[in-house]
This record gives sequence, structure tokens and C-alpha cells, in this order.
Amino acid sequence: MARRILYAVGARPNFVKAAPLLEASRAHPEVDTLLVHTGQHYDDALSGALFRDLELRAPDVNLGVGSGSHAAQTAAVMCAFEPVVLGWRPDVVVVVGDVNSTLACALAAAKLGVAVAHVEAGLRSWDRSMPEEINRVLVDHLADLLFTPGRDADDNLLREGIAVERIHRVGNVMVDSLRRQLPRARGRCLLPGPPLPDGAYAVATVHRPSNVDDPAQLAEIFAALAALAEEMPVVFPVHPRTRGCAERSGLLPALGAARVVEPLGYHAMLALMERARLVVTDSGGVQEETTVLGVPCVTLRDTTERPVTVREGTSVLVPVRTRDNILRAAAEAVAPGRGTRVPELWDGRAAERILEVLARF
Ligand code: UD1
Repeated sequence: MARRILYAVGARPNFVKAAPLLEASRAHPEVDTLLVHTGQHYDDALSGALFRDLELRAPDVNLGVGSGSHAAQTAAVMCAFEPVVLGWRPDVVVVVGDVNSTLACALAAAKLGVAVAHVEAGLRSWDRSMPEEINRVLVDHLADLLFTPGRDADDNLLREGIAVERIHRVGNVMVDSLRRQLPRARGRCLLPGPPLPDGAYAVATVHRPSNVDDPAQLAEIFAALAALAEEMPVVFPVHPRTRGCAERSGLLPALGAARVVEPLGYHAMLALMERARLVVTDSGGVQEETTVLGVPCVTLRDTTERPVTVREGTSVLVPVRTRDNILRAAAEAVAPGRGTRVPELWDGRAAERILEVLARF
């Protein structure tokens, strides 16, 4: 009898994590897969473009749920996902990351008595004001199999009373995608405008509610990017949420000479980051990618659920995000002599290890 594995994805970072899992599944003829897209992200820039770059097959099912408040979005995914699980009868539902779709699919599956596997389990920022932190905690406590990227995550789960035999330390699937796609990404960043000087420009991304929803906070971040843009070109791919907030508060002109572009595809973003002098971000995935690429990273967050990127990698946190603090962190991040290394098991083979476990579960 084939093992039936249902992979559920919904938002941009999920696609990057699911691609290597689908790829690794192909090496297991005893495994049947179904790919379900909840439709949480639906713009081509946040969804279709990523599927193409990651060579991810088209979803078998798209629930078309779209945007909404947290409760509305989570509930809509649950309602639409339940009949798919009942119809296809998977042995295990695999969810990745920490977005609303991750929680909704895990909860719907668990209530139907279907086993849940969580990839990227055990991350904790200890900040419950982040919607993702609530999603992480709940999904980990629903899951039967917890695949962690490193030792910190194992420790967090054990402290919360999760049984050791459920925890599998496998490494970081985000890095699997990076290592596979980087050679294809090189040379594929065709940005409009003047060419960027190699190793002498910055890339910025910001989309977290805690940074963009409050106009005073967003103004400090934009002032820092404008000041950086006086020193070197700054490319700023703008997430739709951020664009909405900036337009409503009339802040876009405060970016000065920073170059505002649409959200980039996966290849374009990797190629751009690899040759940057500095990355400024509040994205968890970008913190990991810059650590693997060895590119200095200013992380616009009070805390991080990925402390290894600060301890061993290239990331510098900015707990109080005034213009001047961000600029100080940028100077610290690029200072010569900062030793960094790639964390254990971030070797591009995490998905293979996960499939070994799933195939015999
Ligand atoms: C979501 C995740 C976040 C992840 C981010 C990556 C949650 C709670 N948050 O945040 O963890 O880091 O994705 O991008 O799940 N919108 C569009 N087009 C789209 C999708 C959204 O324009 O395709 C706009 C809508 O105005 C929407 C807003 O962006 O209301 C927010 O989208 P949503 O999916 O709720 O959260 P993100 O901010 O993208």
C-alpha cells in the first residue's frame, strides 16, 4: 500500500520549504503525494512566480481562500481543507513554517484524526504579539512528528513537554532550496534601472505588522533606508502589505533615493542577496539565507525565533528600531572581522532526512 502524504502550503515562505520535500518524495516510489495550496497568497509575485523558480508542480488543489482577518482566514482555510482530507484520506498531512495556513491545515487534520507532521518545528521568539508565534506553538502541540532545524528548537520542544520520540532533528529545508537553486539564480536578477555595483549595494525587505502597521515605526525604518541610500544603492522590493501601509500614511517619499521595486521572484532575490554588501530585513527566511550566503544582515526585530543566525551567522538584531539604531546595526553588521559559520545540518539534505522518516511512519 502506498503511503499517502498531503503537503499543505499557503504563503510565500511555505513554497520555498515545500519544494525540496516534493522533490525528495519523488525518490520514494512507495509514496503518493497531493499538493494543496490554500490560496492565502494569490498574487503572481507572491505565489506563481515562486512556483516557477522553485520548479514546484502546480497544486493539485487550490482552495482559493485569499486574504482576511486572522480568524476569517484561518477559519476559511479549515472549512475548505476538511473535505479535501476526507476525500483523499492521507496517512499524514505535512505542514511547513508558521503562517495562518499552517495552523488551519494542522488543526483541521488533527481533528479528523489524521497524523500531522510539522516541518520547521520548535522555533520560538517568545513574543506572543507575533501571529506566527501563536501559530508555531499550536502547530507543534498538534503535531505527531516534529522536524526541527537545529538543537535550539529541540530544546524548546522538550521544555514544553513534547515527547522526545516525536522530535526529529533534520536540518533546514530552506537551505535545501537555496543550495539547489543558487546556481540557476545567478545572473537572473534583471532589475530595471542602472546596474548595481557588485558587493556595494543593500537590499531591504520589511512586512511584519510590528514594523509596518504603525506609521511612526515605519517612518523610522524608511528614514534609515533613505540615509543608507545616500551611501550606496538600496533596492527595496515592497510587499503588498507594506505598500498599502506606506501609501495610506503618505510615507513612500520618505524613502528618498532607495529604489522601490515590486516583490521579487525567488531566483532574483537570491541573486541579489548573494552580491549585496548588506541586507536589511524582518523576514525569518532571509535571516537564514543571509547566514548561509555569508552576507551581513540587519534584522529589524526585537527577538528572533532563529537565534543561531545571530550567534553563529551574520544577523544583528535591532530591538528598538529608530533610524539611528538601524544605522548603527548596519555599521556593526558590515564591520570587518565578524566571524560567521553555517549552522550544523544546514547542508541541503534536510528534505531527504524528512522523507526517510515519513516513508516509514
Ligand atoms: C504572511 C504570513 C507571514 C509571512 C508572510 C510572507 C501569517 C500570519 N503571516 O504575511 O508570516 O512572513 O506571509 O509574505 O500567515 N496581499 C496581497 N496579495 C497576496 C496576498 C496578500 O496583496 O497575494 C495583501 C492583502 O492586502 C492582505 C495582506 O497582503 O490582506 C496580508 O496578507 P496575509 O496573507 O494576511 O499576510 P502577510 O502579511 O503576507
